[in-house]
Amino acid sequence: MDLNDQMQGSRREWWRHAVTYQIYVRSFADADGDGIGDLPGITARLEHVRDLGVDAIWLNPFYPSPQHDHGYDVADYCDIDPLFGTLADADAMVERAHELGLKVIIDLVPNHTSNEHPWFQAALAAGPGSPERDRYLFRDSPGGPPNNWKSVFGGPAWTQVEAGPGEEGQWYLHLFDSTQPDLNWRNPEVGDMFVDVLRFWLDRGVDGFRVDVAHGLFKAEDLRDQIVVPGHERMSGASAGESMVERTDVDEPMWDQPEVHEVYRRWHEVLAKYDGDRMMVAEAWTQSPESMARYIRPDEFSQAFNFAWLLAPWSAEDFTRVITGTFEAVDQVGATPTWVLSNHDVDRHPSRYGGGARGLARARAATLTMLALPGSAYLYQGEELGLEQVEVEPEFRSDPLWFRTGNPGRDGCRVPMPWSGSAPPFGFGPTGGQPWIPQPAEWSELTVAAQAADPASTLAFYRAALAARRTFSETAGEGIELVEAGTDVVCFRRGPITVALNCGTEPVALPPGEVLIASGPVGEKLPPDTAAWLG
Ligand code: NOJ
Repeated sequence: MDLNDQMQGSRREWWRHAVTYQIYVRSFADADGDGIGDLPGITARLEHVRDLGVDAIWLNPFYPSPQHDHGYDVADYCDIDPLFGTLADADAMVERAHELGLKVIIDLVPNHTSNEHPWFQAALAAGPGSPERDRYLFRDSPGGPPNNWKSVFGGPAWTQVEAGPGEEGQWYLHLFDSTQPDLNWRNPEVGDMFVDVLRFWLDRGVDGFRVDVAHGLFKAEDLRDQIVVPGHERMSGASAGESMVERTDVDEPMWDQPEVHEVYRRWHEVLAKYDGDRMMVAEAWTQSPESMARYIRPDEFSQAFNFAWLLAPWSAEDFTRVITGTFEAVDQVGATPTWVLSNHDVDRHPSRYGGGARGLARARAATLTMLALPGSAYLYQGEELGLEQVEVEPEFRSDPLWFRTGNPGRDGCRVPMPWSGSAPPFGFGPTGGQPWIPQPAEWSELTVAAQAADPASTLAFYRAALAARRTFSETAGEGIELVEAGTDVVCFRRGPITVALNCGTEPVALPPGEVLIASGPVGEKLPPDTAAWLG
C-alpha cells in the first residue's frame, strides 16, 4: 500500500495527528473529597497529562445528570453537575489546559436525554399527541411494545408510561437505559436546540466535541421490526468484552440511517465559523470501515473512532487487515484515520490480551505500533500506568448494563486513578476519603509517583513513545508502506522509520536499522509480544 503524502494546506489542522488523552471525570482526581472525581481535581492534575506528551484531552460528560449512566443521561446540556463543580470550574479547567498547550474536547450526547430533562418531564405532563411528546419517540401500542428492538443495555428498548384516566399508557423508545429516552430527530426543534448547545460551548472556548452514539440519531421512519437471525446479533455501542464483534450482515433499522448525515453537515458549518480548527469526532459503531467513512466526508465529522483497531484480536493478520481496511476507507473520502485501544466502555487492553506480564507486554507493543501510524490516537486514562480491568464487587457496580443483564459491565475499567502513596485512595482524593469504586491494594506499585521514578515503567515507556512520535510524525507524512515479514509480524515503513510488531510465539529477525524505541527488551531478534521502531 502506498498512500500519497498530502500534508499541505487545510490538512494541517491540529487534530489530524493529535494524541488525545481521555479523562473519565468521576475517576481522574477528586478535589472535594466526596470520593468522586471533579473538574477542580482535573485542573490540578493537568500537568501529568502535559508531561505525558499528548496534545489534547477529551472529558466524558460533566453535565447535570441523575447519573444513571454516569452522565450519558443529560438533564441540562449547558451546565455542570454539582458533583463535578460549576461553570466557573469548567472555564478554569479549559483555561489551564490551554495554558499547558492542551486542546479540550468535550462529550456531546444528542441521541437521548435524561428522563429528568425538562423536555421529557414536559412530554410526560402534556400527554399523547402533544408537541412536547413529539420531541421523543412515543407510540400507542396496546398490549406490548411497538416493535422488537432491544436496548443496548439489555431488555426491551421501550417502556410504557403511566396512563391518564381512561387511556392506555404510551410507550417511549430508549435504545439505552429506560432513563435515557431517545430524541425524535425528525422534529426540527431538536436539531435547533443542539446547534445552540454547540455554540454555548464553542463560545466558552472548547476545541471540539466527541459525539456520543453519532450513528443513532435517526431511526427507520416506520420503526419496523428488526430482522433477527440467531447468532448474528450485534451490540452496537456501549457493551462490554466479547459482545462487541464486528459484523456486516446485521439488519439495523435503529442505527446508521442516511438522514443522520444532514445533521453533521449543519454542525460542520457551525464549527467552521469559529477560529482555531474546532473539531468533532464521531462515536459511531458502524458495521464496516466503509460505513464509518461516510461520517468523515469533508463536510461532516473531522474524524471518527476506529473501533475496528480496538476490536482486533491479538493477531498480525487481523491487525494488518484493519490497517489496510482503515486506509482504504479513509482515503476514499480524503480523511485521516484514528486509532484507539481502550476507552471507558471496553475491557482495558492489557486484560483483553490475556492479562499479567504477557497482557501488559502485548498492550505496550500494540500501543507502540498504533503510535507510529499516521492519523491521530486516543489514549484512555490509566493505560499509561498499564492498569488492568478490575473485578468490581457487585455492591459497587453501577453500570446500567449490570442492572439490566447481570453482565458485570464496564465499571472495571472506570476505577479511580492511583496517583501516589502506598494505600488507597492513592492520592485520588484527600486521605481518608473512599473512592466511589475501591482501588486494588496492588495498585501501590502502579501509581504515577511510583512509575515516574522508574525508567523501566509503563509510564516511562509512554512518555518516551510519545516523545519519539513527536520528533518524527511532523515530517513522516500520511502514508505507510506495508512490508512482507511473515504471518506473525505486522511490519510497515512510514517515512524514515520501520515498525515491526511480533504477534507470534518465536523471536523473529529485526528489520534493518537501529532500534529507536521498543515496547520491551530487544536483543538480536524481536521477541514475541514486542514491537520496535527502527530507523
Ligand atoms: C456510548 C458511551 O461511550 C457509553 O458510555 C454510554 O453508555 C452510551 N453511549 C449511551 O450514551
